[in-house]
Amino acid sequence: MGDLLAGKRILVTGVITDASIGFHVAKRAQEEGAEVVLTGFGRLSLVNRIANRLPKPAPVIELDVQNPEHLASLAGSVREHVDGLDGVVHSIAFGPKDALGGNFLNTEWDDVATAVHVSAYSLKSLTMACLPLMGENGGSIVGLDFDAQVTWPGYDWMGVAKGALESTSRYLARYLGEKNIRVNLISSGPVKTMAANSIPGFEKFEGVWNEKAPLGWDLRDADPAARGVCALLSDWFPKTTGEVVHVDGGLHAMGA
Ligand SMILES: NC(=O)c1ccc[n+]([C@@H]2O[C@H](COP(=O)([O-])OP(=O)(O)OC[C@H]3O[C@@H](n4cnc5c(N)ncnc54)[C@H](O)[C@@H]3O)[C@@H](O)[C@H]2O)c1
Repeated sequence: MGDLLAGKRILVTGVITDASIGFHVAKRAQEEGAEVVLTGFGRLSLVNRIANRLPKPAPVIELDVQNPEHLASLAGSVREHVDGLDGVVHSIAFGPKDALGGNFLNTEWDDVATAVHVSAYSLKSLTMACLPLMGENGGSIVGLDFDAQVTWPGYDWMGVAKGALESTSRYLARYLGEKNIRVNLISSGPVKTMAANSIPGFEKFEGVWNEKAPLGWDLRDADPAARGVCALLSDWFPKTTGEVVHVDGGLHAMGA
């Protein structure tokens, strides 16, 4: 228990199981003194059950980032639980089956569009939906990235969507800096979650990280990424925005 986020009101998206990176962010944030509100997509009874496993059960608001009505009502729904927000965590991604797994050269635009809409454009939509809740002190927006500077086997159009996410966060940083809103990403190493299970060949990453990450890496441990997110939500990166912070055991810095 600490007080890194004492008094902060944080919206965390993307919780679907207790393996979700979002779940670990919510847990750490509560342990560091934050008041946490969650959003859930689809299977809300499941998300509510998971929310009850947090140190302090957190309220859950329905949010499909592709649904304009959900986005329009989000600020009002959040206000039923907290009187404003100091931080927002974007932990959302989806790529249709045809956009992943080696079909890169034949993927149709509709599938690419879905991946980019849900995984990248949504950082902008979510941020704008939450803007009315951020006060004069601004706040911190943090998203979850998988390094898009390079290609990965089978990650395909999700990799392109992550490239778009990285660029979206930089443009948000440009446009929202005057409101003292910081926008940053944590580029996490691989973690076994529901989203990861849908990436064909994901298990191969285990060998790559075992061999190359100088600090070592555990695919079953989302806590390093969660801690990184909490650090960026805190007051300890006051002049950092448009940044991608790697929490990957150092793998991104290794050539061979
Ligand atoms: N697991 C990894 O190896 C890894 C590595 C780096 C980055 N990430 C990123 O972390 C984030 C969270 O993923 P995770 O690995 O915790 O998996 P997860 O499956 O637990 O979370 C993904 C979440 O996205 C949500 N989602 C999907 N479509 C949505 C929509 N239309 N509207 C709102 N929410 C929607 C799902 O409900 C789910 O809660 C994603 O951005 C993912 O790309 C994951």
